[in-house]
Amino acid sequence: MDRITIVADEPIATINPNIYGHFAEHIGGVIYDGIWVGLDSETPHVDGFRQGIVDAMKRIKAPVVRYPGGCFAETYNWRDGIGPSEERPVTTNWWYRNDGRLESNQVGTAEFVRFCRLIGAEPYLAANITSTTPLEIRNWIDYCNMPARTSSLARLRESHGDSEPFDVTFWGIGNENWGGGGSMTPEDYAGEYRRYATLAANLPGEKMLVACGPAGNDVDWTRRFFEKMSDRLRHPSRLMQGYGAHYYCGTAGSALEFDENQWYQLLWQAAQIERLVVQQRATMDAFDPERRIGLIIDEWGCWHPEGSGPSGGDNLFEQQSTMRDALVAALTLNVFNNHCDKVVMGNIAQLVNNLHSLFLSQGKTLIMTPNFHVFDMYKGHQGSQAVRTLVDTEAVEFENRGRNRKDAIDGISCAASINGNLLMVTAANLRYSEPAEVEITVHGLSTDRATRKATLRGDIPQAHNTFDKPNAAAAVWENGSSADLSAHMMLPAASVTLFEIPL
Ligand code: AHR
Repeated sequence: MDRITIVADEPIATINPNIYGHFAEHIGGVIYDGIWVGLDSETPHVDGFRQGIVDAMKRIKAPVVRYPGGCFAETYNWRDGIGPSEERPVTTNWWYRNDGRLESNQVGTAEFVRFCRLIGAEPYLAANITSTTPLEIRNWIDYCNMPARTSSLARLRESHGDSEPFDVTFWGIGNENWGGGGSMTPEDYAGEYRRYATLAANLPGEKMLVACGPAGNDVDWTRRFFEKMSDRLRHPSRLMQGYGAHYYCGTAGSALEFDENQWYQLLWQAAQIERLVVQQRATMDAFDPERRIGLIIDEWGCWHPEGSGPSGGDNLFEQQSTMRDALVAALTLNVFNNHCDKVVMGNIAQLVNNLHSLFLSQGKTLIMTPNFHVFDMYKGHQGSQAVRTLVDTEAVEFENRGRNRKDAIDGISCAASINGNLLMVTAANLRYSEPAEVEITVHGLSTDRATRKATLRGDIPQAHNTFDKPNAAAAVWENGSSADLSAHMMLPAASVTLFEIPL
């Protein structure tokens, strides 16, 4: 039996809704035929954006979307994506070498901000520092944020039909600068970052500037970057309010085919994100003991071999998502919740027709992957007060072929938060084929009943949704009667469950 103890009188912090953020890059089928179907499309749309995605994003209360890359940002000139669409240039983009697709620039700054407004999310613009200048990033901010009838760029925006400023708060300054973003050392990047961020920070208006963090849990990158940042600044937070790591899980088997061992191998890898958070935050604390700089996981998710999605490999990086990916999403979001005193944003990569996506689409057809259902079930955590959970669970041993050794993973993953007089618990049973019998105890508050609100599972761990079977792995919502807390709960194998406990 597994035991979950919710220490209701031990609050962690308020869960920043941006932990439930998204990432939409100009790559493969994410933008074109993904979120954007065009103004003349027969696919139902709102201002060119796929209606089904707009509605679904509202449903899960999507808080923030990072855009336009990713690596795409490296060669992106924001000026190509403004003004009358028929006058916009067609360009070769970062991914041209991979898929030979040209960039039409039909979706640019105004369209993306429109998409965010439609779904109720904040736009997060990622600017590159490899092929643009500090002045051009400042100009982009000027174009987006200066009030009407002020600067020439604000007037240019007005002439394009947007008199009101876009008020973009979140700005990324560089992407993967240890790799595609210039192959820099942390010291090189800190020097560049200071130049770019100084000009970006200097315009009025609320801004959160985000620096590029490590590839995975590279502690050396973080220590050296913060050291270099600190040697010229009284406090690094003067130019940086967020620090964004990228964490992808490599594959074990393929997107759709994996055995029990490979199931655990991937979940174990995903669970290492907690180690990343713990070690990165400790490294940051040495330079920022007041914790003014938030830790962001700017890109996260599973990266499987291509070709399993509906386009059969036509859309770069498009993959199917099974219950295994849903469990990765559930345990990752549980980790973010449990460290919400430091983690302020997370952006799952990527929204549609790509890596760890919430949606798959083609023409008029749109389906939700099991990952969507996790975000739907977890949305109540946004803005709630996270409280400590203690999990006493039997670990599962498996052969970690990636490391040539035996490893073990906890049988369940859990997070809890309080909103008003409701305690919400999200619990994932990571076991491939064993149900879990769980005893939940709430410490510090008086309560004795729990309601099972939703369960996400499939017939088999490889269950996934297709255009023919869109609900093979979908959440079942119950308008449940509550059960006595002393009666043990059953979590099906390979499943995610949402409980509500009235206080
Ligand atoms: O998400 C796909 C790519 O992965 C992004 O463009 C890049 O930032 C990362 O390497």
